[in-house]
Amino acid sequence: MSDMNIDDCYELAMKLVDEAGELVASRNSQRKTVQIKSHPTDFVTETDQQVEKLFVDGIRAKFPDHQFIGEEDMSEGKKAILTNAPTWIIDPIDGTMNFVHSFPHSAISIALLVNKVTEIGIVYNPVLGQKFTARRGQGAFYNGHQIHVSDEKDLTKALIMVEFGTNRESEKVKVIMENLSKLVRKGHGLRCLGGAVLNICYVALGAAECAYDFGAHAWDYAASEFIVREAGGITIDPSGGEFDIMSRRLLVANNIEMAKQLTAELIQYYPSPRDDE
Ligand code: IPD
Repeated sequence: MSDMNIDDCYELAMKLVDEAGELVASRNSQRKTVQIKSHPTDFVTETDQQVEKLFVDGIRAKFPDHQFIGEEDMSEGKKAILTNAPTWIIDPIDGTMNFVHSFPHSAISIALLVNKVTEIGIVYNPVLGQKFTARRGQGAFYNGHQIHVSDEKDLTKALIMVEFGTNRESEKVKVIMENLSKLVRKGHGLRCLGGAVLNICYVALGAAECAYDFGAHAWDYAASEFIVREAGGITIDPSGGEFDIMSRRLLVANNIEMAKQLTAELIQYYPSPRDDE
């Protein structure tokens, strides 16, 4: 795919993100009707479905061969299959629980991968006007200003982004709590925004040093982890191995020294099924 085509894709994605943002912002303070998905705290609203449709319809009209991995399409039990075809990975509203409560930390997330390599990542919290953008090799931006990860190397001086996830089964909750209990005594502080996507983007912003996650999905990670890498950070598996976008496991950090110290502290959890199972 030529640079020209990626330019076209980026322009279209930015236009659709703004349209989606208007819809989400206009509904943030309204009462929502929710449908429960995999767990009693895992919701979808009509707005999640409308935003995903807005993206899929808008992109298909211009690029009929492109593929999609979208959260709300996947919730019907489909496997996420990533091929070499241009593929848009979409979370129409990350932090749906926040959106339902009018808590102003939810985000639209869209990434384009070509040959399984990320070309574009856009994350937009329309309620607070926070827009993160990145293109391969061109750096990461926050509301148009270039951003860079923090240069701190010591975990004891780090802010660590954490998330509880939507699965509250006892085995998972036990691991989450044990990790929180260890890390709250280790770093400067723990922060939880209630949405994996914005947590990860705050590492790109240099506002936190690292984030880890057990249980979110490819659509939570695709744009946000790319924005961290374009801001100078790294993405790995929480065990220290290579990141696998289908594994529902991620660790992002400002640098490898920080990542290694966090990895050494974490009790591991392997969510099942993976996104491609
Ligand atoms: C969820 C949020 C939540 C995280 C979950 C995600 P959704 O995404 O990011 O904070 O803990 O693991 O699935 O359902 O709001 O798009």
